Amino acid sequence: MATIVAMVNLKGGVGKTALSVNFADYCASAGLKTLLVDLDPQTNATFSAMGIDEWDKHKDENGTVADLLGARDHLHPDGARKDINDVIAKNLLQGFDLVPSHLDLFTVDLDLAGKPNREGRLKRALRAVRDEYDVVVCDCPPNLTIPTQNAISASTHYVVPVSPDFLSAVGIALLKSRVADFCEDIDHKIDLGGIVLSRVGRPARRRSETIQSIRQQFSADVLDQQITERAVVAGAAEEAKSLKDFPDKSAKTEFEQVSKELLERIGIAE
Ligand SMILES: Nc1ncnc2c1ncn2[C@@H]1O[C@H](COP(=O)(O)OP(=O)(O)OP(=O)(O)O)[C@@H](O)[C@H]1O
Ligand SMILES: [Mg+2]
Repeated sequence: MATIVAMVNLKGGVGKTALSVNFADYCASAGLKTLLVDLDPQTNATFSAMGIDEWDKHKDENGTVADLLGARDHLHPDGARKDINDVIAKNLLQGFDLVPSHLDLFTVDLDLAGKPNREGRLKRALRAVRDEYDVVVCDCPPNLTIPTQNAISASTHYVVPVSPDFLSAVGIALLKSRVADFCEDIDHKIDLGGIVLSRVGRPARRRSETIQSIRQQFSADVLDQQITERAVVAGAAEEAKSLKDFPDKSAKTEFEQVSKELLERIGIAE
């Protein structure tokens, strides 16, 4: 049964999507059967893995994560819902499978107001395919609304990418306590897979002090390897390519090392 990992941070732009995609890429290339679920209406992970034309056809013919969560359910008066086996896009260049996202997710909190099991819909959908994968990676939006709640309630672990600036550092403890409260409310057990220092080298005041204080405060939860800010990471996302396809191997090596540490922490043997 797949280990399911949610990449979570309330803060935007900290590298959740970059880590989700590159971790999924690493897992697939290490021979693990891997599924990436894009739960962000911004669809950044989706377009890091598939072309816009391909997505356009897929969303019409097969559906997206928005259908799995029940966004715009009222448009299907016959009650017919999408099957996750149809929604999963396969045979993508980077070797992992993908549940693509859709802008419709922006309103899913309103669409599902008053509906039962709003936060448990991804978990229920994944049940049908969980045996087929070793790892499922959920890329979340920068908030704790219904899509992120679905990721957390489906996941065995959550991972927190953090860009080391003062405000991001302040948010880690808040996030941990919010996740703990939410899991208590839904009676779900989740483990912290780790905190990943990400986009290191972005301009920030007192950068090295912030890194030091995060490592001190969250000690063993912080991965040894950190991810440096490098243009090639954004370039790979823009071109929907793997870091493997670029001559500069430094970013690829860092993501590989982070992925290995994460796999060890979440108990998956390569
Ligand atoms: N290590 C890195 N080096 C350079 N650019 C990066 C790196 N990591 C991420 N980026 C770029 O920074 C931007 C934000 O990163 P990313 O999308 O991964 O963050 P996010 O936390 O998922 O953001 P959001 O909260 O909006 O979903 C993107 O343009 C991405 O390509
Ligand atoms: Mg993102």
